[in-house]
Amino acid sequence: MLAAMSRETHPDPAHPAAEPDRPTGSPGWGRAVRVAQGGHVSVLLDESIAGLLPRSGGRYVDGTFGGGGHSRALLAASVPDGHVIAIDADPAAVARGSAIRAELEAATPGAGDRLTVVHGNFREMDGLLAGHGIDAVDGVLLDLGLSSFQLDGAERGFAFRLDGPLDMRFDPTQGVSAADLVNSLDATGLADVIYRFGEEHRSRRIAGAIVARRAEAPFTTTADLAAVVQRAAGGRRGETHPATKTFQALRIAVNGELDALTEGLLAARRLLRPGGRLAVISFHSLEDRIVKRFIADSAATCVCPPHQPVCTCGTVPSLRKVGGAIKAPADEVAANPRSRSAILRIAERLDVEGRPADHQATRGRTSEAIRVMTAGDTR
Ligand SMILES: C[S@@+](CC[C@H](N)C(=O)[O-])C[C@H]1O[C@@H](n2cnc3c(N)ncnc32)[C@H](O)[C@@H]1O
Repeated sequence: MLAAMSRETHPDPAHPAAEPDRPTGSPGWGRAVRVAQGGHVSVLLDESIAGLLPRSGGRYVDGTFGGGGHSRALLAASVPDGHVIAIDADPAAVARGSAIRAELEAATPGAGDRLTVVHGNFREMDGLLAGHGIDAVDGVLLDLGLSSFQLDGAERGFAFRLDGPLDMRFDPTQGVSAADLVNSLDATGLADVIYRFGEEHRSRRIAGAIVARRAEAPFTTTADLAAVVQRAAGGRRGETHPATKTFQALRIAVNGELDALTEGLLAARRLLRPGGRLAVISFHSLEDRIVKRFIADSAATCVCPPHQPVCTCGTVPSLRKVGGAIKAPADEVAANPRSRSAILRIAERLDVEGRPADHQATRGRTSEAIRVMTAGDTR
């Protein structure tokens, strides 16, 4: 229900959130279709889509296609001719795009072309889009981390609760696996990774136990590593499995996630037209810190030293922060515990002189779907 959503943290008071339960007649919009095929539940779906101000004729990047939940909602919110260019590093996610294209095509002949799904890393977003003749877009969405398809598939090696090969690569065709890392880094390097990317204060103890165990036999499976980490970290504590932070750290390191995020944000800023929106959903403080800092730095109007009485830097801001951190409302957290740690941040691209684009023109072209989507509660 709309009333159940958090008003204080809404992306933009001028653009109230979509009503989650309101059917629009388009596939992929509303709470009824939150679950993408196969089981991934899209997080902060209504809030992130509303924050992007989608409209007919708009062009949007979904940098983290996953199960396609956000892409479907963006397509539904930009009927009849909005276009989504979706990217995913995981070839299995890209393959899922065909089903959604077929669904669009079946509903409206020709509409399948509204979705383009590209295999690649969002850190190379502008290059990937250039390959499709696109150099500017109206919105970019990043829903970070991994999907339920990846977490629930033992063969991908992301889950410590399932036994599978110790891999953890979003793109299994490239780079080094988690097994490569744990079997090759020295104890100091391993402890640094676990501390930095897992914020695990028992990192040295865990790294020591890994190095001691691998001297007997290299690690090849998730269950094997989880058991060693659990013993070293001192058994279960409350709800959280003791291997949680170590697995998070290895996943971030294997996929270069924090560097990819920094580069992806820069690429998104280059691609956005004035007035275009950036929406980023992060799942832990390391990611959120990068997003928050990026938006604050891009929105800065002066970077002169604080003691300098007169501004001489001539800084021109490139983004405007839209609202504050948005967290999932209680009903979403109850239905999908994964949303508990999610934080959505939204920013808007400014023009070359650092001014907001005129949204009056955009509003004039707003489609009926978006008019419905943003109508109603204006508290
Ligand atoms: C949380 S899921 C996205 C779920 C999607 N929004 C939905 O509603 O179904 C994150 C996806 O982003 C992908 N991913 C993570 N980092 C990436 C990167 N740097 N470049 C491209 N894809 C990435 C993962 O492979 C995963 O499929």
